[in-house]
Amino acid sequence: MSEQKMWGGRFSESGGRQAEKFTASIGFDRRLWRQDVAGSTAHARMLGKVGVLAPDEVATLLQGLEQVAAELEAGTFPFRLELEDIHLNIERRLTEIVGPVGGKLHTARSRNDQVALDMHLYVKGVEGELIEGVHALQAALRGQAQAALDARIIMPGFTHLQHAQPVPLALHWLAYWHMLERDAARLAQARERADCSPLGAAALAGTSFPVDPQAVARDLGLAGVYRNSMDAVSDRDFVLDLLSAGAILMVHLSRLGEELVLWSSREFGFIEIDDAYATGSSIMPQKKNPDVAELVRGKSGRVFGDLLTLLAVLKGLPLAYHSDMQEDKEACFDAVDTLMACLDAVTGMVATLRPRAERMRAALLRDWSGTTDLADALAKRGMPFREAHAVAGALVRVCGEREPERLSDDELRAISPELRREDLALLDPEGAVEARQLFRRVAEDLG
Ligand code: ARG
Repeated sequence: MSEQKMWGGRFSESGGRQAEKFTASIGFDRRLWRQDVAGSTAHARMLGKVGVLAPDEVATLLQGLEQVAAELEAGTFPFRLELEDIHLNIERRLTEIVGPVGGKLHTARSRNDQVALDMHLYVKGVEGELIEGVHALQAALRGQAQAALDARIIMPGFTHLQHAQPVPLALHWLAYWHMLERDAARLAQARERADCSPLGAAALAGTSFPVDPQAVARDLGLAGVYRNSMDAVSDRDFVLDLLSAGAILMVHLSRLGEELVLWSSREFGFIEIDDAYATGSSIMPQKKNPDVAELVRGKSGRVFGDLLTLLAVLKGLPLAYHSDMQEDKEACFDAVDTLMACLDAVTGMVATLRPRAERMRAALLRDWSGTTDLADALAKRGMPFREAHAVAGALVRVCGEREPERLSDDELRAISPELRREDLALLDPEGAVEARQLFRRVAEDLG
């Protein structure tokens, strides 16, 4: 026998309900208890203000909700699977505490607008936390950039994973800073769309009670209300906004993770990852593995999956609420937990890693990454750039493994009569960085 349901009127009391375990969401939506209590508190206050509930009824409900919150906080709250979700669990416990007046809380409200409200409050809150997490990582990147600028560290910049042109290490770190700046902006925009209250929509068609949705929204610190009640209970776009902003953020963390894996390899040796962010091998004593960076790269897949889950859940749903929408929660919570954990780990890893300037410098030795500058110099003397490009390319080919200084005057002339011995100095990586005023630009960017 299951306990009397909140919606039990229409159902026979005989026998347990087979599907209870399958349909229950209490296992995961208990995470929303703070939002649920806040929403109910604001709803009860509003019902009092518009005269649907008497002042003493409101006072009783608010006291009861406080006790419920205290039990949830203390971990003594009696969760019941047969009560399906956090909304019914809280309402039942409230009624146990305050008596039949507890049954008045659900006046002019449905679980459909209630769950939507909880999710709005939750998503808005975590978006604020995620933005802070992004800012913390940005600060760590700026710290590395400032240190690399002060030490005037240069390294090969890559395209196609081939040496392309020399760049300051600081320029590289700041590129990630800018990616994250867009992530923060996307999350802020998502937060604005979550900042809206669906209460008043009730199940889907609004309510005949004289409710004041604006007052509830104000009470909860939400900026606005939905104008269409069916949209209010059917909309999960604000969760999609969070998950898509989160998926793009994970792309960035994964790219950075991949970079750190590569850079910490013996072949690159551009950085030393702090021991706190690496682990050893159970068999190979010499190993120091960049696990944290690898796992961040790997966990990006989870967040992409969470986004796809919700897209698939929503795409076939006619208006308005369907139980399918209960599936938004685990995807959303998993993405949020993953994002928070990854931001935290990457921030610590970036803040503590040590660049190996001498390795970066060594990688620039005779790597031809200043060749564009040599071509540019010829072009500045009047040679069409395409021809200058060919001349500089021929220089690389003819020189082969030799040092460019070893080329004879005849060889240089054979490549092009325009090519002067002093042009070879343009191959110097410092000069290439200087020619583009990259240190000045980076310093300006750092402000
Ligand atoms: N547990 C449900 C969810 O997470 C709450 C809303 C249920 N509404 C309903 N009519 N069954 O979506």
